[in-house]
Amino acid sequence: MNPVILGIESSCDDTSAAIIKGDTILSNVVAGQKVHEEYGGVVPELASRAHQQNIIPVVHKALKDAGVTVSDISAIAFTRGPGLLGSLMVGTSFAKGFALARNIPLIEVNHLQAHVLAHFIQEPGQQHKVPEFPFLCLLVSGGNSQIVLVRDYLDMEIIGQTIDDAAGEAFDKCAKVMGLPYPGGPLIDKLAKEGNPNAFEFAKPRIPDFDYSFSGLKTSFLYFLRDHIKEDPGFIDNHRADLCASLQKTIVDILMEKLVAAARKTGIKEIALAGGVSANSGLRQAFLDGQKNYGWNIYIPKFAYTTDNAAMIAITGYFKYLRKQFVGQDVAPFARMIL
Ligand code: KG4
Repeated sequence: MNPVILGIESSCDDTSAAIIKGDTILSNVVAGQKVHEEYGGVVPELASRAHQQNIIPVVHKALKDAGVTVSDISAIAFTRGPGLLGSLMVGTSFAKGFALARNIPLIEVNHLQAHVLAHFIQEPGQQHKVPEFPFLCLLVSGGNSQIVLVRDYLDMEIIGQTIDDAAGEAFDKCAKVMGLPYPGGPLIDKLAKEGNPNAFEFAKPRIPDFDYSFSGLKTSFLYFLRDHIKEDPGFIDNHRADLCASLQKTIVDILMEKLVAAARKTGIKEIALAGGVSANSGLRQAFLDGQKNYGWNIYIPKFAYTTDNAAMIAITGYFKYLRKQFVGQDVAPFARMIL
């Protein structure tokens, strides 16, 4: 019998619960938090308070959407880290209480591993093709930019990562400099469609191996705008689309250059994309180009499974359940958990 697993995600500003039966998702409920919008970024204290309010209604809805009851749940999986400690504590405490009350196994999940394993979530009645091991996964979000070598479901190694800002952060911070609201990544993507990606050139970092750096780009973008605004106060308004298109091209080029190099060095052609920035149309196009130019088999999950969600926690919980990787009631959240 396939286990039915309840997944809980509360690492940042989305409270999410999902039910998975085997590898087939039955429900995935996400409650976002509007409270942060006016601050231009996530406020940790407000995030944990909102999780506290959201968690029970979100779990109730996930059970209802899946058509199951609490007594059908075989195990509960939760995000242990990385993330905001106060936020993680809400999901962890809920999961511990639920496991204790129902006398079922408790499974800790690494949020980054879950982003990668999101590729294995199947929808009812339609099996999609999943990556073959070993594969490379470019994991790009608001907090991470990594190239992960995935040898097996629970055997992963980071072979390249950012030494400072994440790619999503670069999008968001540059958007802020242009006066766009948070999170600016999706807005830059939208505006870029009307602009010329070769209108402006921004310097790319020189970082060894497969590592990334995005903090220099943010600074050079800021100085670039400041210099031009001195001569033309309306520079940003007059060139917004070209600025977005050129910035997006630079970020995508930086990401792809290292990924192509990693694929070449390892000889791997199974290439996957994960994390919130995978919604970016420029990056998606670059993956399609990789398929054409390098013979890659590419994998991009459904949008709902790329941003923070509990479906990916549930599928990771499933793989750990099969290996009986359970934890005890003494488990505590771990804000700086690594892959
Ligand atoms: O994985 P995610 O939902 O959560 C965090 O890690 O926080 O990623 C969110 C990030 C934000 O930085 C957001 O601006 C970026 O993903 N993002 C995008 C796009 N959609 C979301 N960046 C560029 N283009 C997009 N279409």
